Amino acid sequence: MRADLVIEGRAYVDGRLIEAAIAIDDGVIASVSSPALAPSADERLVLGPGQIMLPGMVDMHVHLRDFNQAYKEDWYTGTLAALRGGVTLVADMPNNDPPVNSLARLREKLEIAGSRALVDFALYCGAPMDPGEISEIRKIACGFKIYPEDYSRLPSLLDQLEESLVVIHPEDPETIMLERSRIISPRIEDHGRIRPKLAEIRAVDRVLEIAGSRRLRLHFTHLTTGDSILRVISSKLRGGGISCDATLHHALLSSDAVKVLGGIAKVNPPLRSREDSEAVLSAMRSGLVDAITSDHAPHLLEEKLRDDYDEVPPGFPGLEIYLPIILTEVLEGRVPLRVLDLYSRKPAEILGARKGSLTPGMDGDVVVVELGRKRVISPSDFASKAKYTPFEGWKIKAEVRMVFLRGTLALRDGESCVRMGFGRHVAGS
Ligand code: DOR
Ligand code: ZN
Repeated sequence: MRADLVIEGRAYVDGRLIEAAIAIDDGVIASVSSPALAPSADERLVLGPGQIMLPGMVDMHVHLRDFNQAYKEDWYTGTLAALRGGVTLVADMPNNDPPVNSLARLREKLEIAGSRALVDFALYCGAPMDPGEISEIRKIACGFKIYPEDYSRLPSLLDQLEESLVVIHPEDPETIMLERSRIISPRIEDHGRIRPKLAEIRAVDRVLEIAGSRRLRLHFTHLTTGDSILRVISSKLRGGGISCDATLHHALLSSDAVKVLGGIAKVNPPLRSREDSEAVLSAMRSGLVDAITSDHAPHLLEEKLRDDYDEVPPGFPGLEIYLPIILTEVLEGRVPLRVLDLYSRKPAEILGARKGSLTPGMDGDVVVVELGRKRVISPSDFASKAKYTPFEGWKIKAEVRMVFLRGTLALRDGESCVRMGFGRHVAGS
């Protein structure tokens, strides 16, 4: 056998770092062996000191905007951010302006993403306006995203979406409406009271009850409390294809950040107490959540700095800092190395993509990371148009040096080496 490329060095394989040679041929991992047994190759790369290789990361919850919100982010800047963060597959949410909730809009997004993306991508569709389009939508979308405003249609939606991946944003709209009506002119610090964790718990209960015995692939995204994670776990134990994810901001930050950072730290669901964030981090440690997602939700800095509570849009970017933060947490002993699976192999499995692990047959997506050198997170350097983060000033000890996407060098030292449109669409499963 002869391969196109062999990369030798310390590699994250099956949950451990081992000395290995990863051979890539025709864009796909052909073999994973000890360096001595590596096949000959047209090109050979030997990692330098302090460098390790990881599979390309998979972020199953991002908002890359474009359409009428290209000023916040577009598929080029969003996927450059992904590449810089070692992410080779993103799954993009449908809450665009205009919303992606029909076959025509989905095709339009496919066209835009296909012509601009630097990394591979999957697309969610919103609650479909015309149920008659569902079978065609399923050929393109990796799943459907259900927002609180769709809950009233849930019983019929879940009937229609049996066997599709259905991602739920769990926040009960009635609870939020009631809490909002109690405060006449809220300040940013009231955000957590207006969208309390009770809203999340009620939403999880309501959706699980409606789901009943339907054969679904339900996925609860960005869970923020131990209680809701436990509900999902116990439902999973009773059978049924249920999974969930959590973000690093809900695991590593608390509502204290809102006091310091104001609107920069406004996000839905809100940052919670330290007790809640510790529960989320501990669920990541033990693998009780199936995935880590960034919920990369870019807005302009000036929008985030507005005075009026209602005028500050929720969310912040995350794609380019997630992997370095996870690795820093590993290096400092707060989470085990295996947590990497939650941002690679496991979300790839949920999406049904042949990515996310250094295993023969998977796409040749390899990230070369340099460990050790300290850097400070500085959002003015972001590729994203959203030049802010609640993690500003955090010290990170890992830097993405190179990214190979399907065997092609796609990023070196922060610069893209592939053209716009190199990213490929990964269809639904
Ligand atoms: O904080 C958030 N921002 N939560 C969401 O659910 C939506 C997202 C956005 O699109 O900005
Ligand atoms: Zn989101």
